[in-house]
Amino acid sequence: MAKSRTIYICEACSYESAKWMGKCPSCKAWNTFQETQIHKSDTESNHGLAQLTDQGRNSAVHIDEVNAQELPRLSSKDEEFDRVVGGGIMPGSITLIGGEPGIGKSTLLLQIALSFPRKVLYVSGEESLVQIKGRADRMIYDATQCMLLAETNTSKIFHEIKKQKIELLVIDSIQTMQSPTIDALPGSMSQIRECAGEFQRFAKQHGIAVILIGHITKDGQLAGPKVLEHIVDTVLQFEGDQHHTHRILRSQKNRFGPAAELGIYEMQSNGLSAVIDPTSIMLSNQEGQREGVSTGCILEGIRPLLIETQSLVTPSYYGTPQRSSTGFDNRRLHMLIAVFEKRIQFPIGAKDVFLNIAGGIKVTDPGADLAVMASFLSSCIDSFTMPTKAVFCGEIGLSGEIRPVSRILQRVTEAEKRGMTTFITSNQHKKALKDYKGGLKIELISHVRQLID
Ligand code: TYD
Ligand code: MG
Repeated sequence: MAKSRTIYICEACSYESAKWMGKCPSCKAWNTFQETQIHKSDTESNHGLAQLTDQGRNSAVHIDEVNAQELPRLSSKDEEFDRVVGGGIMPGSITLIGGEPGIGKSTLLLQIALSFPRKVLYVSGEESLVQIKGRADRMIYDATQCMLLAETNTSKIFHEIKKQKIELLVIDSIQTMQSPTIDALPGSMSQIRECAGEFQRFAKQHGIAVILIGHITKDGQLAGPKVLEHIVDTVLQFEGDQHHTHRILRSQKNRFGPAAELGIYEMQSNGLSAVIDPTSIMLSNQEGQREGVSTGCILEGIRPLLIETQSLVTPSYYGTPQRSSTGFDNRRLHMLIAVFEKRIQFPIGAKDVFLNIAGGIKVTDPGADLAVMASFLSSCIDSFTMPTKAVFCGEIGLSGEIRPVSRILQRVTEAEKRGMTTFITSNQHKKALKDYKGGLKIELISHVRQLID
């Protein structure tokens, strides 16, 4: 019988303590300590991992002696997914994909499992085999090598894998898994830690790629300890607006490829399909009704994307004016309103301001600031519209100066490809755009005041 003891672990920073505490002495977070059972046997097996992965070698070797043969990656036939994970799934890697309930994680992974060209095991702890089959029947796939298993017990899963020669294992979801070595409830921190550890050891030992699905808590954190994110090689985030059909797959951490890569999908009645041309869904391209509308260019991952910002500035009938934004950070909106009032001297502070980024996308790139300002201006002045073919791109500082953005040439090229004619950006890009020979008219400005001109 393995000896066990109880310790308390901070969910935020994994600080360990022998007794419960209200405040974590390490990260100063409140109420984050969770009771966890530690077993003698599983700490031992954790230490054994280093040996397993390094062919039993424990002595130091010269870096040149290490045989670093890059294993061929496994293509999943889903180009967006392959690109986000860095050019195909790495054998022996462990990936965590997180997202809100109902966003389409199970759909995405089942779809990948169905069209994966090699043998896959899709394990579900949430749905029955009939339910999974029903979901699969709605999707389009050719001959498949996908095996299904409805199970939550990890040792039974490993036992099953030994019988099948599989190359990819999908676990839906890590919160439902239960390891027989510890007696904690599924979804509790100690269970999640233990199961994730078991899957990680399994992946490294047998060279089988593992993808774990993880739920997300209300405040947007991956449920379960942060440790989970440290254990895995790749962390992907699947996000989107429930009311829109677009979904974004983002890589947050990737040991085998670039982080900040991004794939865009559209949810349809027969599953998710990749969006090859994302800009076309973001722009409404409606001539006419352009009051309060301007076009911006943001960088999503490393891809430039044209977006449409829409503002509505109206007289306020309440004491405190309302500010509301969809797809844009509210605090940044407040800052832009203040800069607009102070630096352009437009009385916007006492008015209601509504901002919307069309297409249901969330903008985090500060390069969208200038487009937001341009849309304010258009909405403030009656029957004044921004030119349809003009793109605004630049970050705005507190004194109203326009700051440069990253990858300006890619953005300009994207705008040109979309048939735009003018590109308005910071004059600090003068050098970078000196050699630009394309057909776009580039206008360089240094202060928001120049927008009026
Ligand atoms: P699901 O993959 O179950 O979400 P998660 O695993 O992240 O909780 O997705 C469920 C949603 O997807 C559900 O609201 C219905 C929708 N959906 C489609 O629109 N088309 C489809 O082909 C499928 C399978 C699901
Ligand atoms: Mg699901």
